[in-house]
This record gives sequence, C-alpha cells and structure tokens, in this order.
Amino acid sequence: MNTEQLRADTPAVAQLIHFNNAGAALMPTPVIEAVTRHIQLEASLGGYEAAGRQAAEVEQVYRSIGRLLNAAPDEIAVIENATRAWDMAFYSLPLQPGDVLLTSATEYAGNYIAYLQLKQQRGIEIRIIANDEHGRVSLSALQQMLEDDRVALISLPVIATNGGPVQPIEQIGALARAAGVLYLLDACQGAGQMPLDVQKIGCHMLTATSRKYLRGPRGMGFLYIEKALCQKLEPVFLDLHAASLQSADSYTVRADARRFENWECNVAAKLGLGAAVEYALAQGIEPMWLRIQQLADYLRQHLGQIPGFTLQDPPMNRSGIVTFSHRQHSAAQVQQWLAGQDKRINVSTSTFRSTLLDMQHRDLLEVSRASLHAYNTETEIDAMIAALQALPRL
Ligand SMILES: Cc1ncc(COP(=O)(O)O)c(C=O)c1O
Repeated sequence: MNTEQLRADTPAVAQLIHFNNAGAALMPTPVIEAVTRHIQLEASLGGYEAAGRQAAEVEQVYRSIGRLLNAAPDEIAVIENATRAWDMAFYSLPLQPGDVLLTSATEYAGNYIAYLQLKQQRGIEIRIIANDEHGRVSLSALQQMLEDDRVALISLPVIATNGGPVQPIEQIGALARAAGVLYLLDACQGAGQMPLDVQKIGCHMLTATSRKYLRGPRGMGFLYIEKALCQKLEPVFLDLHAASLQSADSYTVRADARRFENWECNVAAKLGLGAAVEYALAQGIEPMWLRIQQLADYLRQHLGQIPGFTLQDPPMNRSGIVTFSHRQHSAAQVQQWLAGQDKRINVSTSTFRSTLLDMQHRDLLEVSRASLHAYNTETEIDAMIAALQALPRL
C-alpha cells in the first residue's frame, strides 16, 4: 500500500483533513472520473442510451463487489443505500409470531426500529446478546440463546456507527450455521475498512454502503444474499426489473439477487461504486485495514494524554473509528472548533439516537467521532491533536 499514491489520488487532502470517513469518505480520482464520465455520456447521448453503451461496465460492478466479498456476482444486488438494501432483505424474511431475533447492543437504531415494527406487526421477539468483557457479543451467551429453537435470525453490525468493538463475525457465523439460524450482517462500517469474506463469515446476507470506507459516491449501497436463500425469498417489493408479468394473473420473479433491486437507479453512482471497489481492491484491503488500525491507535495514544478528553473506545478489537468526549465542550462544539478558522479538520458527532442501547448502556448522550482512513497521515493527526490542545476553556 502506497500512502503517497492514495493521497495523490485524493485531491481534497491538499485543502482539508478529513476524519469523517465513517460518515462519507473522500472519493479518489478514479471514482470521481467514473461518475462524471457517465454524467457526461448521459448529457451527450441520453440516459437510456448511455446506460446501454455502458452495459458491460455495469455488469462489471457486480463482479467487483463479488470479488470484494468472495461471492458470486448473481448473489449481489445494488440498491440505493445500505438501509434499503438491509430493509429489502430483512422485511422479506418469513418471520412469524413468536420467532426470536438476536441482535447486539451496538445495533444501529435504524435497524432496531425495523425490529420493533415487526414486533408490533408480526409478533416477533427481540433479544439482545450480552457483551463479553471486551464489549463484543459474548459467544457463550449467544450459544446458550441459540438453544431456544424459536431463534430465527441473528442480525447485527460488524462495527457500530459510534465505533466500539469489531464483532467476532466468523465465530458468530459458525454458531449460526451450526444452529441452522439465518445470519444478517450489517457491514456498513466494515466494507472497505476491513476484509469481509462471506464464505469465511458464514453470513446468509450482508449489506453495505458505497460512501463510507469504500470511498464511493453517495446514494448507493448493496446486498449480498446467498444463492440458496435468495431463490427461496420473495422480495417484499417487486417491480418489472425484479419480476415479469406472465399473464393477467401471474408473474415470475427473476432468479438472481437482482430480484431485490428496482429498475430506476443512478447509473453514474453505480459505476462510481464499481470504481471504488476496484480501487480498494487494487490498494489491498488487508494492508489498508492494518494502516487504518495503526493510525487510529496513534490518535488514541495522543488524545488520551490531553487533559479534559476521555477516550470512549473499548480497549480491544478497535477499528478506525475513534470516539471521545470532552469534560466541558459538547461534541458539536468540538466539531465546530476543528472545522473552524483555517483548521479545516472534519470530524463528526455520534449521538444516542443512532445507537440508543449501546449509549444508554455506557451512560453517554453523544461522542465526538474521528474516523480515519488509509489516506490519512500521522501529520494530519498531529494537527488535530494540536488543535484540540488549543481548545479554549469554557
Ligand atoms: C452501522 C450502520 N448501519 C447502517 C447505516 C445506514 O447506511 P445508509 O445511510 O447508507 O443507509 C449506517 C450509517 O451510518 C451505519 O453506520
């Protein structure tokens, strides 16, 4: 992995320090070019004609995502964001009254709302897997919970939106498979940040977004669904891309994972997502993951020494998402301070609204979130540390 090349491919690093990769990362030049090239093509040929011209490139997007996840291209659906990709899988599952769903305290509130909706509408039961001493889901607790044969689904995020530990996704997969329980993995913060191999993980479904660690454009996401399950699940919504009308009384649903897509989509962004995946694969996910972890630990080491700041990350199994709080200043004030004047340092805030259970459990209302990518540098981190040291006292 070549950091200089990564930075040369990221024009905005000349003007700002971007530590909001868990929000939306900076797109590298090949992604920007793929998107703008297609917009130009649409402007000069017409939208349908441009899509026709680029049909082979669009097909390539599925192969690229397949390579990223070690899945077959026909197990991939490209959908407008991670939430809709996840919804299409989750709401299509034949969950019945009394079925039990297991999730982690780190669950994304958007997913949890869907659990509550199915609890109200279909009478499913939600159970939270206890944490182990490192803040990850406890595998022994999970194993015990799986003894109840009403458990129908394990569904959790690999990395939470507010940081926290990287979950033991492969061990969870082994337990799910042994118990014959479906496993839905929200890899929104994992894709592009860490290696994800669905064969090793053993998940039946996995969802992710384009704009975060994959560095693709906004408004794109995808679903992986294992072939055998895909063919058994009828999507909750169908259109004439997902299905075809056979007569006034009958339709057939297409065989591949694209049954979970809908027809109209942002082709430029789809090609941008494909370019982002190819770019990430060319850099090497494993070396980027190592670099991201090193940078995050460098930031934690220095942050931990500034009076007034408290690190909020777990001691082990940490990712590139660094979270912290200040004794006096709110997360919004820290964000404004870092962005202000000539500093131009982007961090974000993560509030209890996005990870209610975890934040309640840890008695936190909000945290500052600095999420690092492989194109960031120690020098940028030093600039952030210096800016935080200069934070005025209230
Ligand atoms: C863990 C997790 N899941 C799901 C989502 C939703 O992704 P999207 O905004 O692409 O729908 C996010 C976004 O922050 C997230 O962090």
